Amino acid sequence: MAMDTAEAAHGKHVDEMIERLEARLRAEQDQVSPTVLHDWIEHARARFAQARIVSFVPIFVERLVRAQLQMESSAENLAKRLLADDMPRRWVHTQAVAHRAGTIAPRLVPGEGKFLVASAWLHDIGYGTEVADTGFHQLDGARYLTRRGWPDRICALVAHHAGADAVARLNGFAEQLAAYEDERTPVRDALWYCDMTTSPDGEPVSFGDRIADIKARRGPDDPAVRALAVNEQERAAAVRRTEELLAAS
Ligand SMILES: [Fe+2]
Repeated sequence: MAMDTAEAAHGKHVDEMIERLEARLRAEQDQVSPTVLHDWIEHARARFAQARIVSFVPIFVERLVRAQLQMESSAENLAKRLLADDMPRRWVHTQAVAHRAGTIAPRLVPGEGKFLVASAWLHDIGYGTEVADTGFHQLDGARYLTRRGWPDRICALVAHHAGADAVARLNGFAEQLAAYEDERTPVRDALWYCDMTTSPDGEPVSFGDRIADIKARRGPDDPAVRALAVNEQERAAAVRRTEELLAAS
């Protein structure tokens, strides 16, 4: 009984510490929506539900949420520097894709959301003049990030987004792209979903309209359009799996 009382007191203390942490982060991070922040905290907390020393949980939660905030804001700052002045339309699209990713992130397994949001910010940096090299934007973006020490997983998500494999087989960069692994996870699917349901002007759009726009904008000879014969189904499947995940959670 005494043990139960001690545990309950401990739990209450942890609750209070996490409430204070949330209030502190909310005041500090006014660019992050309070709902998103709350979800991150709750997910981080759930991840440490089995921690043996409960009084450490607030520390673990703070560390995880801060890692999430830091990677996302670094990705946002880098994408802004590379795209905002250089390619304003691409930047509008990128911001919308990243904001969409931010709404999906809390629905993923705890700890995964930051990879989705960071890769959403960075997915199109390969178009920027400082980054463009081969003209294959997925590969150029990934290599740029690799050179700057970004986590392998972020580089690989950028490398493979939007069915890059099929494009690489047409443009001769299959071997170079193979240096990156296509992880085929809900994070990867959600990145493709956010990109494939956001128009070049940042408006929400259906998958069908997005594909029609890509065809009209790029013309039939563009490798990204020719690759649709191979990757359109794969892109559609990633969109469908993400819709299922969103409907279920
Ligand atoms: Fe995109």
